[in-house]
Amino acid sequence: MIKQSSNTVWHHATVTRVRREQQNGHKSAILWFTGLSGAGKSTLAHAVEERLYQLGCRTYVLDGDNVRHGLCGDLGFTDQDRQENIRRIAELAKLMLESGTIALTAFISPFQSERNLARNLVPHGDFIEIYCRCELAVCEQRDVKGLYKKARQGDIKHFTGISSPYEAPEKPELSIDTDKHSLEECVNMVLALLQERGIVK
Ligand code: PPS
Repeated sequence: MIKQSSNTVWHHATVTRVRREQQNGHKSAILWFTGLSGAGKSTLAHAVEERLYQLGCRTYVLDGDNVRHGLCGDLGFTDQDRQENIRRIAELAKLMLESGTIALTAFISPFQSERNLARNLVPHGDFIEIYCRCELAVCEQRDVKGLYKKARQGDIKHFTGISSPYEAPEKPELSIDTDKHSLEECVNMVLALLQERGIVK
């Protein structure tokens, strides 16, 4: 946890979030995708982004694997490191919200407490938690990156679902069984929610 800097004063922008949203023609929001490794978070986040992009929306996907190459490149997978990972992403997503963007985050984010922290950083209604639900056995069978095999062999420590916990969301805005629906159906469910909430038209 980084100590808050002293002797700093918040500078208020004249180009506000509301003005940006008016210019963009849609509201900003954080779409927080959570789920096991291999549950389809990144695939769904990018497919939703593609659809939103085609509608002319300003979007950006923050993806676990990518962010861990830079901003969070100093962090591993202990509980403490995952907490710091999610804290940084939550702060970044908050800035993106202010910038008028629809930020889509695709992180395992295994702990309810950190997801709550991310939710409570922003105004009520701006944080949309999307649980990509998929049986561990299915994720393990897919094993797209070969990580489950390595985890079972003991070559990767603290692997989510195997040797590190995943706490399913208590009250997500949306819960999608990614192993039971096509990608298009999953995208449609997210888009329907965004329209229902007046984020996009
Ligand atoms: S977390 O828990 O939210 O901090 O994790 P995240 O930043 O999303 O990173 C998950 C991706 O890192 C790879 N990976 C691991 N995942 C889980 N446990 C361990 N030990 C691990 N080591 C590496 C893996 O590719 C994850 O990507 P996804 O897209 O979830 O499969």
